Amino acid sequence: MRKQAHHWLDVLMIELDRGLKTLTHKSNHLVPRPGKNEPETELSEARKQHTIGLMRINHTGEVCAQALYNGQAMLAKNSTTRDHLLQAASEEQDHLNWCQVRLDELGGKPSISNPFWYLHSFILGAIAAKFGDPVSYGFVMETERQVENHLQEHIEDIGDSDVRSLKILKQMQADEIRHGSHAQAAGGLELPKPVKNIMTVMSQLMKLISYRI
Ligand SMILES: [Fe+2]
Ligand SMILES: [Fe+2]
Repeated sequence: MRKQAHHWLDVLMIELDRGLKTLTHKSNHLVPRPGKNEPETELSEARKQHTIGLMRINHTGEVCAQALYNGQAMLAKNSTTRDHLLQAASEEQDHLNWCQVRLDELGGKPSISNPFWYLHSFILGAIAAKFGDPVSYGFVMETERQVENHLQEHIEDIGDSDVRSLKILKQMQADEIRHGSHAQAAGGLELPKPVKNIMTVMSQLMKLISYRI
């Protein structure tokens, strides 16, 4: 009994550490940022604020990805799945870093709503894992599909007006497509339509808030 309490205390500490590192931007830069050698573009103030809003959405999206993967990994049914999910989370750290650095360059700040979204996605990931690995991977497939779609909107919106941001978004989109395919190849199941709809509503809400604050 005591041993089990110790185990859960350890898990809690590890998860708190992961969460805080995500929210305070303490992770390793593994892959160089795409577009970092492109010249900075002169943006009008309105355009700059709009781009900051978009990059803030993408940054929050990556906070959610970290949380989702961490929540799933915590309750994954087997160690191979857990390793796979933690590996995926570490790849998403690059995206998180790229968005953070671009926000810094533009003079923007991450969303103050990030702690809420981290908790929301972590709980979602843990619940998904409870239903078994195929459902858990199904969540990854649907999340990546939604991220891929909103990245497409941002890519079209930003276009060539800001190549430094554009290159980050294009690389992220290519990576998200790959993450989705990996999850499918690992046995991910298509989620029921109502679940997908709820996920869509939550991501719309996230975008609405993160664009502004
Ligand atoms: Fe990502
Ligand atoms: Fe991804």
